[in-house]
Amino acid sequence: MKGIVLAGGLGTRLYPLTHVTNKHLLPVYNQPMVFYPIQTLVKAGITEIMVVTGGPHAGHFLRVLKNGEDLGVTHLEFAYQEKEGGIAAALGLCESFADEGSVAVILGDNTTDADISESVKDFTSGAKIFLKKVPDPERFGVPVFDPQDPKKVLSIEEKPQEPKSAYAVIGLYMYDNQVFEYIRTNQPSDRGELEITDVNNRYIEAGTMQWAQLEGFWSDAGTFESLYLANKFWAEKKRVG
Ligand code: G1P
Repeated sequence: MKGIVLAGGLGTRLYPLTHVTNKHLLPVYNQPMVFYPIQTLVKAGITEIMVVTGGPHAGHFLRVLKNGEDLGVTHLEFAYQEKEGGIAAALGLCESFADEGSVAVILGDNTTDADISESVKDFTSGAKIFLKKVPDPERFGVPVFDPQDPKKVLSIEEKPQEPKSAYAVIGLYMYDNQVFEYIRTNQPSDRGELEITDVNNRYIEAGTMQWAQLEGFWSDAGTFESLYLANKFWAEKKRVG
């Protein structure tokens, strides 16, 4: 399985920090943010990675990641997303990189200490999402569970005003190659973006979506509050050793 790190966007919620560089290169304790999702993939045995970036500071990635060797990456590629087309559009740029195979996709501002090796090893086809209980589900994609069967996810709602569960769909996904067909045939949302949630709902409709609860710490880092929390967690974890 190959890995994809989505690290585009303008990071407007973090202005003025993101006037200086790309959001995913901002510090999270002692490393640039993007090191964490890359390490999550490498730890799971995924060492062929494509980073999709965009915006005015995309060039900064080259000097920080170089050829990826320092992080255990054996093959590093970059793609540049020209417009703010959404997460699914960014993923769509990776079709030739995926080379007919399956991919693990992680958002560049998601940090976790979870070990996903088993999920990677067991993955055969369809898709898999990871859920985490959060105090503010309205900020995320939120799963709707079947009242008859609480283990069954009926659909995912993107940033619902009234969340139907207390879980977030975190920014870590596994897809078979069908994902590129779903992206091609999906319509942009009201905000004009190709939503990853719509892609996930296609897998749910097809009955080929699995889910698991993520063990361990997880946070995104796209707002000042979540960036602070991610810094705090990693500082404490690394200081304790
Ligand atoms: C994105 C996805 C959302 C997901 C979140 C995880 O939202 O659209 O479904 O829960 O990442 O970090 P964003 O934070 O990019 O708006």
